[in-house]
Amino acid sequence: MKIELLSGDITGLSVDAIVNAANPSLLGGGGVDGAIHRAAGPQLLQECIPLHGCKTGQAKITKGYRLPCSFVIHTVGPIWQGGDYDEATLLAACYRHSFALAQEHGIATIAFPAISTGIYGFPKEAAAQIAVSETRKAAKINGNLTQVIFTCFNDESRLAYEKRLTVDGIINRSHFFQIFF
Ligand code: AR6
Repeated sequence: MKIELLSGDITGLSVDAIVNAANPSLLGGGGVDGAIHRAAGPQLLQECIPLHGCKTGQAKITKGYRLPCSFVIHTVGPIWQGGDYDEATLLAACYRHSFALAQEHGIATIAFPAISTGIYGFPKEAAAQIAVSETRKAAKINGNLTQVIFTCFNDESRLAYEKRLTVDGIINRSHFFQIFF
C-alpha cells in the first residue's frame, strides 16, 4: 500500500474512489463538496437526494458520474468547536467508515481531501495525524488497498501531511511515499 501526497484538485483524479467532505444534507455545498458536485454533474445530486443525508462521522457511497473516478464516498466531518466536542473521534470515524465502504466495494485506490480542515475549521496538523493513523489501520485490515492519496489544496495542508508522515517515518521510505507536485 502506497501513500501519496498530491497538491491539486481531487476531481481530476482517476482513482477508484474520491472522498467528499460533505455536510449532513448530502445535497452539495462549498469547498471540495461544491467542486465534486460541479464536476460530477447533476446526476450525482439525483443519487444523493434519496440517501436522506448522513450523520457526522458516517459515510455513504455513490457513483462518480462525469468524474474520472468510479465512486464518490461522502463523509461528514465534524465542525471544530475547540476540541472538547469529540471532534477528533468523529474525524477518525469519517476515515474509518470511508475505508469500510472502500473495502465493501472492492476499492483499491482512493483519494481524500483534508476533511473538516476548510470551512469546518479543524486544525490541519491534528487532522493530518488522524488521517495518517486511520490509513495505517485500514491498510492492516484491507489487503485490497493499493494506493491512498491525500490531496492538499494549499501549502499549509501539504506541510501538515509532510510533517506527520516524517514523524511516522514514512517519508523516508520512498517505495511507500511519493510526492507529486
Ligand atoms: N480538491 C481537493 N481539496 C480541496 C478542493 C478540491 N477541489 N477544494 C477544497 N479543498 P472544505 P470541510 C480542500 O471546506 O472543512 C462544504 O460547504 C480545502 O482546502 O471543502 O470538511 C460542505 O458542504 C480543505 O483543505 O470541507 C460542508 O458544509 C479541504 O478540502 C463544509 O464545506 C476541506 O475543506 C465541509 O467543510
